[in-house]
Amino acid sequence: MSTGKKVTLSIIKADVGGLAGHHVVHPDLIATATRMLSEAKESGIIEDFYVTNVGDDLQLIMTHYRGVDSKDVHSLAWDTFKEATKVAQKLGLYGAGQDLLSDAFSGNVRGMGPGVAEMEFIERTSEPVVAFMADKTEPGAFNLPFYKIYADPFNTAGLVIDPKLHSGFKFEIWDLIEHKQYFLNAPEDSYDILALIGTTGRFTIKRVYRKDNNEIAAAVSSERLNLIAGKYVGKDDPVAIARAQSGFPALGEILEPFSFPHLVAGWMRGSHNGPLMPVSQKDARCTRFDGPPRIIALGFNIKDGKLIGPTDLFDDPAFDETRRTAQIIADYMRRHGPFMPHRLGPEEMEYTTLPQVLKKLEEKKI
Ligand code: 13P
Ligand code: 13P
Ligand code: MG
Ligand code: MG
Repeated sequence: MSTGKKVTLSIIKADVGGLAGHHVVHPDLIATATRMLSEAKESGIIEDFYVTNVGDDLQLIMTHYRGVDSKDVHSLAWDTFKEATKVAQKLGLYGAGQDLLSDAFSGNVRGMGPGVAEMEFIERTSEPVVAFMADKTEPGAFNLPFYKIYADPFNTAGLVIDPKLHSGFKFEIWDLIEHKQYFLNAPEDSYDILALIGTTGRFTIKRVYRKDNNEIAAAVSSERLNLIAGKYVGKDDPVAIARAQSGFPALGEILEPFSFPHLVAGWMRGSHNGPLMPVSQKDARCTRFDGPPRIIALGFNIKDGKLIGPTDLFDDPAFDETRRTAQIIADYMRRHGPFMPHRLGPEEMEYTTLPQVLKKLEEKKI
């Protein structure tokens, strides 16, 4: 590991309007974000950036030397989303400004609407990272795959055979309802970790650290818009970062759990369970029943603070069978129509007419 200043990798995302519904980001919004981040790179606020989209979510991937929760970087993201919202309004895009919940920017975007995953570290000689970005789901969608990456030896061979991984990882888990945090170690606290994170709508993995030296390994966005706003304003489509190789799981160990299209909450109206389908960036366009929920993975190397890449990691026939299985699961789940467990339980639904229906039925009650 080289000695040097710490670089920060930040992914900040928001849905500020979709073309033809909750479908894709319009190219003019990508162009607006690219222009604003280019200016910020020139003026030295950020070191480098990459703008993309996953469905209707606009993704700002940035490197800089200002640390996590930097006011300068967060306000740059906020201003970029505001500017993109203006374009979305002009074009009449659907849900323009959907994820910007407050007009008063107060230092960082945490809890304000946009999702953020960021981490600060000393760059290794080679610093491979994976940026995961998903549409039509929630942060808890990362619980199962991230548990497998950092705690399941059937997924990650390195936990058994790489001395640098053998002592395991520490999980920082957030309780999104009671606003509490837990720090639990794998493998020794595995059953406690699973007892929490199996409840995906409430407990989410926020960060993972290598246990022997507390080095940051992964970070997930854990904002829950519905709880923030107190009403439905869109599912909080999540993002995550994972560092790969040399003391962290290998790239293929990080991608491996996504070969199982596990059921996640989101999909139509943020109120249905469906399979998480890994896709290339060009296929990150939700259609069928506004889904099925999708995830992309972009691989980069960070060198002297610059983003080298990306490579589109799920753009690979190795994930074809996963995608096919996801279609079969999507068919199976859809046949339940308005019934649970396709439809979420009442406490988890982002949209519900249940109180009005029950009120109307009050007079018919005997
Ligand atoms: P590193 O220990 O350099 O990450 O290599 C692991 C590997 O070879 C993955 O297959
Ligand atoms: P988004 O959270 O991606 O905007 O989707 C909302 C929705 O209602 C999809 O049906
Ligand atoms: Mg949307
Ligand atoms: Mg979305």
